[in-house]
Amino acid sequence: MVITKSILLALAALSLTLPVSAHQDGVTHHQNYEGQKPLQDHQHHNDGMPVQEAKRVAIIGAGSAGSSAAHYLRRFHTNTTNAPPINITIYERNAYIGGRSTTVNAHGKASYPIELGASIFVSMNENLVNAAKEFDLTVSSTSSTRPKTVRDSVGVFNGEEMVFVQPYSESKTGKWWSLAKLLYQYGPLAPIRTKRLTDETVGRFLNMYREPLFPFSSLGEAAESVGLLEATGVTGEQFLMAKGVGNGKFVTELMQASTRVNYGQNLGLIHGLETMVCMAAEGAVSVEGGNWQIFEGMVKSSGASVHLNTSVTGITEKKTAAEGDKKVWTITSQKHGDQSVVEKDFDTVIIASPYQYLDLTHPPTTLQKAPDKIPYVALHVTLFTSRRPLDPAYFNLDPASTVPEAVLTTLNVTEQSSETFTRGEGASAVGKVGFFSISTLRQIYTEEHGEEFVYKVFSSEAFGQDRIRKILGVKDEEEAGVTWVFRHLWNAYPYLYPRVTFEDIKLGEGMYYTAGIESFISTMETSSLMGMNVARLALDEVLGVEGKVKAKL
Ligand SMILES: Cc1cc2nc3c(=O)[nH]c(=O)nc-3n(C[C@H](O)[C@H](O)[C@H](O)COP(=O)(O)OP(=O)(O)OC[C@H]3O[C@@H](n4cnc5c(N)ncnc54)[C@H](O)[C@@H]3O)c2cc1C
Ligand SMILES: *[C@@H]1O[C@H](CO)[C@@H](O)[C@H](O)[C@H]1NC(C)=O
Ligand SMILES: *[C@@H]1O[C@H](CO)[C@@H](O)[C@H](O)[C@H]1NC(C)=O
Ligand SMILES: *[C@@H]1O[C@H](CO)[C@@H](O)[C@H](O)[C@H]1NC(C)=O
Ligand SMILES: *[C@@H]1O[C@H](CO)[C@@H](O)[C@H](O)[C@H]1NC(C)=O
Repeated sequence: MVITKSILLALAALSLTLPVSAHQDGVTHHQNYEGQKPLQDHQHHNDGMPVQEAKRVAIIGAGSAGSSAAHYLRRFHTNTTNAPPINITIYERNAYIGGRSTTVNAHGKASYPIELGASIFVSMNENLVNAAKEFDLTVSSTSSTRPKTVRDSVGVFNGEEMVFVQPYSESKTGKWWSLAKLLYQYGPLAPIRTKRLTDETVGRFLNMYREPLFPFSSLGEAAESVGLLEATGVTGEQFLMAKGVGNGKFVTELMQASTRVNYGQNLGLIHGLETMVCMAAEGAVSVEGGNWQIFEGMVKSSGASVHLNTSVTGITEKKTAAEGDKKVWTITSQKHGDQSVVEKDFDTVIIASPYQYLDLTHPPTTLQKAPDKIPYVALHVTLFTSRRPLDPAYFNLDPASTVPEAVLTTLNVTEQSSETFTRGEGASAVGKVGFFSISTLRQIYTEEHGEEFVYKVFSSEAFGQDRIRKILGVKDEEEAGVTWVFRHLWNAYPYLYPRVTFEDIKLGEGMYYTAGIESFISTMETSSLMGMNVARLALDEVLGVEGKVKAKL
């Protein structure tokens, strides 16, 4: 997608340059680790003394959050004196690292990897950008592989007509819209106020990467202290009204096209913060060959032992001998295709997947409160190849013209006045137009099929062969020339209903949870930020109050 969630990403890098030393009280909300035994003296020194026992950390899930947790845990640990050794174990149900960041190969050819999930981050997303640099990955503008065989880069379609088109010549700066074009079509007020509001929101968010806020043990309190609850507590519609952007066509056509392509939601539902994230679209990039390589690099750099194809089925509290002993968690796991169930004990567990998708047969029973189930967008992604271009007639364009490379969508005027649609989920959210976006990603060449386009469709229902034939403007299968199709249904991101509290980060002694941040902002970068945050919190807990972190500078 041309559009991005840029706000978030810019921030993370800041915190990396900070010494990992004490965080001040007050704004940070540290747990009181009473009841935890101070580390024994002999554990602090290795000279001739008994070998220190390693602290065992389990991470469940190797997506952005889990990989980042492992990476930063190792980094923070290496930079800490007097810490006991740590031993990191990662469990991942899939056969690959990356979670919702993963590629599939068009025609099964490794030379044509296509992002199936998260495709874009922005140049300010420092966790991702820095990691890509560290692992020598090539980051390039997402428009660089676009075929550019058509006149327009972006169009917004409402099921009846293209309400907005952005010709190629006018978008130079990696934005999908040009200011000149916007001002011409929508007048100066809304675009300029939106730009200002976006910058201000980004600025507030950036504080979460640095002291005194980082590390934060309550997302709600951290968001409150940077003044972002005002944005998360209301819908995008309400937020934009309150901030003087209004509810004109700039909002219903352009901004909503962006929340739809990025999150499958309209402005009557999605909260104000995620709405602004969708507008911070400068410098959209992705890693050549696949964004998952960032997370693979992070896992490798952490020195963790990784169990792929392995589902965690239980997290239970181990009964330790004496009252007041440190809590130990037993993780039960099963490698796919293997009958045997493996049990292993850990001092710390980091849950780096939405809790509801862990599918535990033995969930922890001693937590004060397990994370709530939250509704996720069921998003159908359809990838296909064909030599045919999209049919202008389907989009109500002049038959002699071309269809924009990225077709975004919005509700029609009737739907826009109905809460059934503006606040809807699934098919109600998508409306008459029937899909969220259709993009012409690139051109590829194979011996068998010659030159073809690769298309990607986001929709709320399966996008069948009949729909594909319609957008290509043909009646029969042969004419359509569809030579490869790949379909996937994701639990993509939460429905971002307005809220001012978020799931706990610390679920219990030695247990942390990353996915609460998805109801705040759902992107690779924010999951990475939360992975980094729990890494800091978990290490601080291991070190105890006395063993306060000292940076080796
Ligand atoms: C189609 C799509 C497009 C998107 N576009 C963008 C985009 O352009 N830019 C962007 O920044 N974000 C985008 N996102 C959102 C982004 O992908 C997510 O916010 C982010 O990747 C979440 O990372 P995570 O590590 O928190 O979760 P996940 O990536 O879901 O990782 C969780 C992992 O835990 C594993 N797991 C779960 N349960 C168990 C268990 N019991 N045992 C072992 N392993 C388990 C899962 O297999 C999974 O690999 C998109 C998402 C989708 C689906
Ligand atoms: C220690 O921290 C600094 C930044 O504070 C970082 O650049 C460095 O990579 C860290 N060391 C290790 C081994 O990760
Ligand atoms: C770390 O854990 C692995 C797997 O359980 C084990 O083989 C290894 O010996 C441990 N290393 C340390 C330093 O404890
Ligand atoms: C995971 O399973 C797939 C088959 O589903 C297999 O091809 C792959 O080698 C396995 N990977 C590991 C590390 O076990
Ligand atoms: C708009 O969408 C609704 C259904 O969602 C449909 O009934 C209507 O015909 C569409 N067109 C117009 C012009 O309202």
